[in-house]
Amino acid sequence: MNSKSLEERYDRILRDMEGSLTARDRVGIQDFVLLDNYTSESAFLDNLRKRFHENLIYTYIGTLLVSVNPYKELGIYTKKQMDLYMGVNFFELPPHIFALADNVYRTMLSETNNHFILISGESGAGKTEACKKVLQFYAVSCPSTRVLDDVRDRLLLSNPVLEAFGNAKTLKNDNSSRFGKYMDIQFDHKGGAVGGHILSYLLEKSRVVHQNHGERNFHIFYQLVEGGEDDLLRWLGLERNCQKYSCLVRGECAKVSSINDKSDWKTVQKAFTVIDFSERDVEHLLAIIASVLHLGNVQFEKSVRGYATLNSSPEVHWLSKLLGIPPQILQQGLTHRKIEAKSEEVLSPFTKEHAKYARDALAKAIYGRTFNWLVGKINESLVNKDSTRKTVIGLIDIYGFEVFQVNSFEQFCINYCNEKLQQLFIQLTLKSEQEEYETEGIEWEPVPYFNNKIICDLVEEKHRCIISVLDEECLRPGEATDLTFLEKLEETLSGHPHLITHKLADQKTRKTLDRGDFRLIHYAGEVTYSVSGFLDKNNDLLYRNIKEVMRQSQNNIIKHCFPASEPDSKRRPETVATQFKTSLAGLAEILMSKEPWYVRCVKPNDGKQPGRFDDVIVRHQVKYLGLMEHLRVRRAGFAYRRRYEVFLQRYKPLCPDTWPNWKGTAAQGVETLVKHLGYKREEYKMGRTKIFIRHPKTLFATEDAFDLCKHQLATRIQAKYKGYRVKGDFLRQKEAATKIETCWRGLMARKEKERRGWAVKVIKKFIKGFMTRNQPVCKDNSEYLAFVRHNYLMRLKDNLPKSVLDRHTWLTPPPIMKEASHLLRKLYIRHMVQKYVKGMTAQRKAQLQLKGLTSGLFRGKKENYPSSVGRPFVDTRISEQDLNIKVLQTLCQEGVKYSVPVIKYDRNGFRPRFRQLIFTQVAAYLVEEGKVKQRMEYTSLKGVSVSNLSDNFLIFHVTCDSKQKGDVVLQCDFLFEVLTKLCVLMNRKSIISIVQGSVRFDIHHGREGFVDFKSGSESMVYRAKNGHLMVVSIQVSGKWWQRNKELKSLQTLNTTNYFNFSRSQQRQNPDDPEYWISWINPESTYSFPKTLVI
Ligand SMILES: Nc1ncnc2c1ncn2[C@@H]1O[C@H](COP(=O)(O)OP(=O)(O)OP(=O)(O)O)[C@@H](O)[C@H]1O
Ligand SMILES: [Mg+2]
Repeated sequence: MNSKSLEERYDRILRDMEGSLTARDRVGIQDFVLLDNYTSESAFLDNLRKRFHENLIYTYIGTLLVSVNPYKELGIYTKKQMDLYMGVNFFELPPHIFALADNVYRTMLSETNNHFILISGESGAGKTEACKKVLQFYAVSCPSTRVLDDVRDRLLLSNPVLEAFGNAKTLKNDNSSRFGKYMDIQFDHKGGAVGGHILSYLLEKSRVVHQNHGERNFHIFYQLVEGGEDDLLRWLGLERNCQKYSCLVRGECAKVSSINDKSDWKTVQKAFTVIDFSERDVEHLLAIIASVLHLGNVQFEKSVRGYATLNSSPEVHWLSKLLGIPPQILQQGLTHRKIEAKSEEVLSPFTKEHAKYARDALAKAIYGRTFNWLVGKINESLVNKDSTRKTVIGLIDIYGFEVFQVNSFEQFCINYCNEKLQQLFIQLTLKSEQEEYETEGIEWEPVPYFNNKIICDLVEEKHRCIISVLDEECLRPGEATDLTFLEKLEETLSGHPHLITHKLADQKTRKTLDRGDFRLIHYAGEVTYSVSGFLDKNNDLLYRNIKEVMRQSQNNIIKHCFPASEPDSKRRPETVATQFKTSLAGLAEILMSKEPWYVRCVKPNDGKQPGRFDDVIVRHQVKYLGLMEHLRVRRAGFAYRRRYEVFLQRYKPLCPDTWPNWKGTAAQGVETLVKHLGYKREEYKMGRTKIFIRHPKTLFATEDAFDLCKHQLATRIQAKYKGYRVKGDFLRQKEAATKIETCWRGLMARKEKERRGWAVKVIKKFIKGFMTRNQPVCKDNSEYLAFVRHNYLMRLKDNLPKSVLDRHTWLTPPPIMKEASHLLRKLYIRHMVQKYVKGMTAQRKAQLQLKGLTSGLFRGKKENYPSSVGRPFVDTRISEQDLNIKVLQTLCQEGVKYSVPVIKYDRNGFRPRFRQLIFTQVAAYLVEEGKVKQRMEYTSLKGVSVSNLSDNFLIFHVTCDSKQKGDVVLQCDFLFEVLTKLCVLMNRKSIISIVQGSVRFDIHHGREGFVDFKSGSESMVYRAKNGHLMVVSIQVSGKWWQRNKELKSLQTLNTTNYFNFSRSQQRQNPDDPEYWISWINPESTYSFPKTLVI
């Protein structure tokens, strides 16, 4: 059962407990033992009545259950109710047959011993119903498997079959059991119902041929006729009309409103299949039932000689067919008897009366024996072949005590049986009560009670009892009749306080008795029996020859019921009463070996009416069932007793020392508890295993205190439980968190280990790679080298030189990258140069070209050249606005290309004069203000001389003829610019000559002059004594450094041009202008421009 349904269940139990306690006043008390006025029959009845009117039909007397028949459905036998009562302490819930059944079952399991539940009460009090409820409870509550379910179904369905064949409508009960039944349910050690066995007792077979007014034959006949399918009825030769069968209508009550024969027939049919009845078995069984009906209709004629004759009637035909006996044999058997005459056997014909008697005897015998076969067959299907030890719960459902208008032999047996069971009950309850006191070590206080042993003895005592007198009469030779039996009875048992006959009675009583009656004062009341039929019924004679006829039957069941081995009539079989007496003694023996439990059924009224509580009738039953005595015995001294464990368990919350747990023994706990509760010494006794409480009020006070504390307790338990649940949840979560953490840590650790392992490998590889870095690429160093390469390249990427001129920034490469680094460096510089070049303007390019040209002309040749490198060239030094307009007009034809201010030294005397030097496309002019002083055509220009020193003198050599003036000595700050432009304009670089020392020049044709150059500390120009013009220029300090610097920058430019390395190699000389020009535009094969735009 899951925890939720358990919780629900306990909730319900608590509610019910509370309910039952609060309703105590309204519904009386649920255990008579707690009745204060326990000796008062009225108080007892009041309580029973109160409860009955509240539909509370069950009340305990200790463990005995009193059940009052409600005669209506109460809805208290549902599956839900069964679940409620399963496994719950007996006294925890309101009294119920399920509580008793559950308690028996659990006691059996825990103590592994056998038990029985004795269900008693008069006819119609509800014994059979109670028995069925117990069975149903076990069917639901016992463990279930496929095999166990089979047994369960058979146990359950054996009931409708037995009831169909053994129950009948009587005046007392519409479903009255006409046989006694003791049913064993066998359980294995796990509590599974594994088998069963049924003992049946004395079927009232006289009902087959005779029913009192208002009664019926056994149900099966009506079920077959009403419910049987048409084909079946046809096959059995039956009609669907009970009125056609004389043995069904003797009581003139074939139809009963409370009975549905049709649906009962369906149930019986289904039951046949479950309890292993083969089709053939069922066919033969029904053939027998039909035969009994046909037999009942057999009528005899009287022959002329006064004998009974039987003509071939349809009944004989059907009997013969159904029983498989030739009709003649059957006819003969029904009309004759065999008698032994000397050594011969002769057939003697019956009189008509005799024949009827024999017919009825046969019908009873067939039915009675078939019933026994049926019980045997059911037992076969319930048998458990497993030899392991089983425990047993027995259910006794025996016909109840009954009193009719006319009571016969059957009632005598039935009431005798009830008398015996009452005796057993007295013995067992008193004995056990006494034993309990003894075992508990508590003084026994004897209780007066009515012991019905005297009545039992009257019926069954050896030699001096009713049965022995009856048997004697049956067996003695001579004319014994029912009346002679009565006489014998009067003779033998006269004076017995419980036997009255017409003869033995006093005047007053005699009036109530017929001559053929005897009256027994039973424990349950007086019953007057009519002796008529006693002898016959006790003899239960069946003529030998009819038995022989039956033996010839083809019907298997009949064959089985009339075996060839049956003793013949020479040895008289035991009489019915003796047989019954023996079987009851057997039953008593069976029961004495088991633990008893009791259900006492009470009938509330005689009219089978719901809601009617007839005080007189109930009082009578309370009396004869000995309920008051039982209560007195239970209360002998102590109203209440309970095992220490149970008592402590229930009431321990009432004492702080015992709550929540008592550490010592249960007895000590109870002692502490009752002291705390203030029990007085005389109010209770401590037994060995139980506490005995003298007055109910003591217990009620305890119960009330418990009731008060329960709510408080419930809150505390709830709080505890919630705490426990939350703590449990917390612990589970904590555990889960720890688990997850552990897993996570493990995972992390494994990853870390993996990482470390990997790192170790990498480092090892790295170290190995490092150690073998200088070896050729191999497995060991390939990765390291790749790393070094990658690393170097990555670092290099971030540390590249920022400009073309930055020649120092370059990461030192690792050895393996030396070559690559070198190549990369070259590539990078080339790239930078290319970038630089691409970013250059046309103007700047032209400038550089000119500069290149200048360099080619003067680098390393003239001292002050380096200082000019940084000075950019300009288009012209004198703008056109500053030139004289006349000059401009003169020269406009030729186009002024360049003009610059110069100092001209006179060829004679070397007087300096400021002039403008203007270059046109074809000539150079010396201009003074608006006058062109000298025109030098380029064609006539022989050359231009400059010194190698740092002066800025230039001497134009012209062809000196008579027309022409002589050479021109000029000083110009923009010497290099002037000369470069001139070279370009003239497209002749060879025109310039750099000289050392002195320059000769023509003053005019035929006369020469000299300009001497030298270095000095101060620049000076003067006319030397020798008539030469002396030009002293300051020697440029660090000249070679300057020169180197220039060289280096040019080299840088040079090295960047990797793209045209081979080509540039051809022009290695940086002083060569072409070399420079090729750098500036590496793709062009430079040819000196014919015309250069300046
Ligand atoms: N607990 C019950 N709830 C409802 N009706 C019941 C209950 N017990 C008995 N009855 C009714 O009373 C009738 C008689 O009950 P039952 O057959 O059990 O009596 P009995 O004691 O076995 O009588 P007998 O001795 O004649 O066999 C049932 O058919 C049923 O209608
Ligand atoms: Mg019954």
